[in-house]
Amino acid sequence: MLAAPVPALAAPASNAADPAPADPAQTDRGSHGRTPRDLRELAHKTGVRFGSAVDVAALRAERDYRTVLNREFTHVTAENAMKWESVEPQRGVFTWADADAVVENARRNGQKVRGHTLVWHNQLPAWLTTGVENGTISDTELRKILRDHVTTQVSRYRGKIRAWDVVNEVVDDDGAMRQTIWLTHLGPGYIADVFRWARKADPHVKLYINDYNLEWNTAKIDTTLAIVKDLQAKRVPIDGIGFQGHLGIQYDYPGDWANVMRRFTDLGLEAAVTEMDVRMILPVTPEKLATQADYYGRALSDCLSVPACREFTVWGFTDRHSWVPGWFDGEGAACLFDESLAPKPAYRRLLATSRP
Ligand code: XIL
Repeated sequence: MLAAPVPALAAPASNAADPAPADPAQTDRGSHGRTPRDLRELAHKTGVRFGSAVDVAALRAERDYRTVLNREFTHVTAENAMKWESVEPQRGVFTWADADAVVENARRNGQKVRGHTLVWHNQLPAWLTTGVENGTISDTELRKILRDHVTTQVSRYRGKIRAWDVVNEVVDDDGAMRQTIWLTHLGPGYIADVFRWARKADPHVKLYINDYNLEWNTAKIDTTLAIVKDLQAKRVPIDGIGFQGHLGIQYDYPGDWANVMRRFTDLGLEAAVTEMDVRMILPVTPEKLATQADYYGRALSDCLSVPACREFTVWGFTDRHSWVPGWFDGEGAACLFDESLAPKPAYRRLLATSRP
């Protein structure tokens, strides 16, 4: 949180409407005959919804944050508020206020919601991890706890959430199934179970498997494809593949991403970019911002080249509230807007990107 006061209003839309893209070939010459004014207009033009992770504290406290969020985005994901440790910090004690705030703000602003996330190995409540470790929660009980969690949370938001990240990061970087308390204590069948429980609690919500490095890591891609095929063979409901899309300009752009998306959508899934950001080693320079714009633009082009790619969600829209500096030493500036909510070259590049 900034100690200095923040301006009450966002940067004027006129800034954003003057993109001067580096590559004129990417400029929109489509049906509207002009570059979209903002991401809402771009969503309308392309049929892909632009989303952002939402920091609930900022949503409550910062008017300029709310203004930009609700002006630009037609899809939202709670950055932390729907994680298990947030919704059930003590066993049987449910704290829905923050998650509800995201859903309610979305309703008022015509935004769809991605639920994030039902089953993960991180941000689990201590009562759960401790209980499993010290044996006071047996495997049978753990399975029931998981079923109740999935059922309770999906039912609560039934009809209010477009898509759930049902399982998050279940495959390791070497392509093995990730060793989590779920796999270790419940066996590999837990994945099919949670998808079935989620479907039972909301018959219409899209059910996703979500992961990082899935843009390029062939071991992870192959295992995730195998999981999807196995679920489909067992008639387990699964609707979507989520690519987190946490990129950094110090690494090559994952040039095969569109093909990877197609390998999944060929199986009948829809695809989404669920947590896009493009970090850089600080300090920021104009050259780095230009490279970052290229990465964002290419990612959107990749999504637009795959008809079943439905959503392009960024993991925070402003460098004022981004997880990157806290998690990647010496890195930052990963978002579309800077700390004062001025649009960066990456934002303008998105507006200038059209369906290939
Ligand atoms: C991150 C949040 O952004 C942080 O605020 C939190 O401290 C840790 O989790 N993959 C995911 C997200 O699926 O849930 C993570 O979010 C980022 C990586």
